[in-house]
Amino acid sequence: MIKESPPMHPEWRKAAGVWPVDLDQDPNLRKSFDVLRKKWGEVPYDQYERRMSADLLALSDAEVVEKWETSYAGSSTGKAFSVRGWYQTIYRDVFRGKKILDVGCGLAPDTVHYAEHGARVTFLDIVESNVRFVERVCHLKGIRDASFCHMRDLDSLRPLPADYDAIYCCGALIHAPLEAARMEAQALLRHLPVGGRWIELGYPKARWEREGRLPETEWGNKTDGGAPWSEWHDLTKLDYMLAPAVFDTVLYLEFHNADFNWFDLIRRS
Ligand SMILES: C[S@@+](CC[C@H](N)C(=O)[O-])C[C@H]1O[C@@H](n2cnc3c(N)ncnc32)[C@H](O)[C@@H]1O
Repeated sequence: MIKESPPMHPEWRKAAGVWPVDLDQDPNLRKSFDVLRKKWGEVPYDQYERRMSADLLALSDAEVVEKWETSYAGSSTGKAFSVRGWYQTIYRDVFRGKKILDVGCGLAPDTVHYAEHGARVTFLDIVESNVRFVERVCHLKGIRDASFCHMRDLDSLRPLPADYDAIYCCGALIHAPLEAARMEAQALLRHLPVGGRWIELGYPKARWEREGRLPETEWGNKTDGGAPWSEWHDLTKLDYMLAPAVFDTVLYLEFHNADFNWFDLIRRS
């Protein structure tokens, strides 16, 4: 798949020599996901804190719900409205009744909220305890129209439906080298028909520049406490990831002092 890819821009960081896995030998990304799994049992909890989902899973039912609510409030309301609350307010209505694939759900502060407002969400993550925590939250909250997928490798995507209304990827694909993100995006696109939305939260180039233009293997430590890779995304990189599929841009926005960027694209072909 990599050999058939469009060319990488010469300034973009290539995986070869810096990513511990040879992507040519990892066509379904199993080994690359193993690298990522070493970090990603620890996920964003609120605006400032991270937690191990396995620790949260060990709690009682009442505590599980209480922790999710605390995580949601601390990441999305009050001062954190400018981080997540603003877009949740828009998309909970956009997604009502729609079929959404959340790629890299973590503790799912956005998508459990959307499910509570009528979205039909598949919660997917490379780390099983993340998925199991969200499954328990949904069960305890009485969210019935939800499904769950632990992605061991790209083959885990095969049983998923082909007709999602949106692929929603909040801070996940920026944590893999662009060539690997492209391989994953190509597998995900089999589940998104023309007219479907590709929604992504990333880090903009301006933040990478402001924070010292670190190599991606080091920037992950700064942005996400030990992530093996963090990479800025822009529309050109998304074109690379998604081609030959073509998308129109509904919204591109850098927000919260350019800490984050938001992509809302609609599939044209
Ligand atoms: C920064 S956290 C974001 C979690 C959640 N989406 C949120 O908004 O709080 C990144 C999440 O993406 C998952 N992840 C990392 N790399 C991924 C990949 N290549 N594909 C899918 N999920 C990935 C991690 O396991 C983790 O749950």
